[in-house]
Amino acid sequence: MPDLKTTWLGLELQSPVIVASSGLSKSADDVKACADAGAGAVVLKSLFEEVLAQQDYEIKDSTGYHTEAYDYLRSELELQYGPREYCRTIEEAKKRVDIPVIASVNCVSSERWPSYAKQLQNSGADAIELNVYSMPADIETTSQQVEERYIEIVRGVRENTHLPIALKIAPYFASLANMAHQLCEAGAGGLVLFNRFTDPDIDVKKLKPTTTFQFTTANDYHNSLRWVALLFGKISCDLAATTGIHDAEGVAKMILAGASAVQVASVLYKKGVQTLSTLNEQFASWMKTHDFESLDDFKGKVSFKRTENPDLYLRHQFMQKIRGVE
Ligand SMILES: Cc1cc2nc3c(=O)[nH]c(=O)nc-3n(C[C@H](O)[C@H](O)[C@H](O)COP(=O)(O)O)c2cc1C
Repeated sequence: MPDLKTTWLGLELQSPVIVASSGLSKSADDVKACADAGAGAVVLKSLFEEVLAQQDYEIKDSTGYHTEAYDYLRSELELQYGPREYCRTIEEAKKRVDIPVIASVNCVSSERWPSYAKQLQNSGADAIELNVYSMPADIETTSQQVEERYIEIVRGVRENTHLPIALKIAPYFASLANMAHQLCEAGAGGLVLFNRFTDPDIDVKKLKPTTTFQFTTANDYHNSLRWVALLFGKISCDLAATTGIHDAEGVAKMILAGASAVQVASVLYKKGVQTLSTLNEQFASWMKTHDFESLDDFKGKVSFKRTENPDLYLRHQFMQKIRGVE
């Protein structure tokens, strides 16, 4: 039987298949179900900065801005409805499973997270995943300023906790490779490529904006694959792939590209958490057909750095394909 062990953020995982932050990882019961089905680790549903910011705003209103009362109530509420509840879930989950439990925070600014990171650490989280995203729609903000915000968040958390840090990012940077490098230098131990967001739409009957969200399909993994392959061996931190990984072939492709692990959500929503055991079994069976005994035998084998045809990950691929179609 091939060995599916891998290392992600310095943590040893029995399988490279991690349950991605989602509604499937909200409670200790959820985490236990994922662990029983064979998850290598679980990333908890994110704690959202906006929720806490909203709570701050409501207290501000109710206290008439009296500083002392505001500070007191704010700290109480944050503890009650924010990290405290979240930390309790981590503590409970850690008592019930042996696999790593990774806390996730969804942040847009650098102010709140450093102090919360400490609380997450104290509750027994094995690592922290920072899900950073804000829409850079301000015409006065430069790309450098946007990048600095990310770096500040990582540095702030790094200074306040010894937990390993993963950064889950979107691909929308002018120079993604340089940004990835900077994030690792700032203290991230791993990058999760790439997050997926809700998309805007317009209701043409009500003439109002709406939001759409769809699960991914097994065809949505290509951009993550490209960037895992391009970055493998070039930056100092681990890589995990997410978005569009629905089967054992998808897992194999990402490890061949250079990922240490993959994160899955949509396939589990569509087929159930039990699918994790099928993914592990089929992935092991694929390894066996290639005589691979461990992930080290093939991790990064088809990355940009190691493959004989690295140009296929670049523009060259586009030119060739288009020529074929025309
Ligand atoms: C219902 C749902 C809720 C999600 N919630 C979060 C979240 O709270 N934080 C986060 O970082 N990602 C969240 N995600 C994104 C997933 O973690 C994952 O990265 C993304 O769905 C791509 O993986 P997939 O193709 O396997 O679905 C969510 C995804 C789904 C489907």
